Amino acid sequence: MLVSAKEMLEKARDGKYAVGQFNINNLEWTKAVLLTAEELKSPVILGVSEGAGKYMTGYKTVSAMVKAMIGELNITVPVALHLDHGSYEGCYKCIEAGFSSIMFDGSHYPIEENVEKTKELVAVCAEKGISLEAEVGSIGGEEDGVVGMGECADPNECKQIADLGVTMLAAGIGNIHGKYPENWAGLSFETLAAVKDKVGDMPLVLHGGTGIPEDQIKKAISLGVAKINVNTECQLSFADATRKYIEAGKDLAGKGFDPRKLLAPGTEAIKATVKEKMELFGSVGKA
Ligand code: G3H
Ligand code: ZN
Repeated sequence: MLVSAKEMLEKARDGKYAVGQFNINNLEWTKAVLLTAEELKSPVILGVSEGAGKYMTGYKTVSAMVKAMIGELNITVPVALHLDHGSYEGCYKCIEAGFSSIMFDGSHYPIEENVEKTKELVAVCAEKGISLEAEVGSIGGEEDGVVGMGECADPNECKQIADLGVTMLAAGIGNIHGKYPENWAGLSFETLAAVKDKVGDMPLVLHGGTGIPEDQIKKAISLGVAKINVNTECQLSFADATRKYIEAGKDLAGKGFDPRKLLAPGTEAIKATVKEKMELFGSVGKA
């Protein structure tokens, strides 16, 4: 069932667990995430970056595919289709295409402009029943061309944005997209606690969910994180399983080159990663 992310995140915040956002890239990715969520009776958010949206030929194609798949796979758990790190223009395109949730990443604008644009989108989303994520501070590293410096969010700016009525807030707390470097200092729980103090009940979002140690994930959830984004880890699992299949020569045996066979190990690997994350985030059985 395609829904806004609002209710599932409020339940997660109250129940002290987090809903995973898993970014999708194609049919196999989408199917793997949806089937795992259904099997584990977990709510789930399908993330679509602007780059992935283009790759899948456009937001309307993505939206149609996800809606049809939810129906044909009999997915009963709550599913949100969410634009990840959206530009101002991208947000409007996804609203038009029928997404149930969007992220406006205005973190690279001066705070006044971020506020102004977020405010406008709050009104549009409220009218359409779409959930809206905003970002303050920035997530380090690079994801699909979105580059962040990784500065921690200013808690007062977080309050300014939260007070506009967004559904959820992504605050930079030392998190990074992609693999974490060896010398990574870890999440800034000081920043997270200060943000939480200012924004009260607002569900918080942790980006860069790949490779964060379990104890830090659990602590972040205890401090108000209700949504955790994972992208790179599924890509790494997919690539690793596909490489092993090819290196073992299985693509050359029998009909192993058939894409339905060739892509199967990678698809199963995505399912395993999603399962592991849902168990860690505590969302299993919460649908
Ligand atoms: O927006 C998506 C994420 O923040 C994913 O980060 O690729 O490090 O898992 P990741
Ligand atoms: Zn992100």
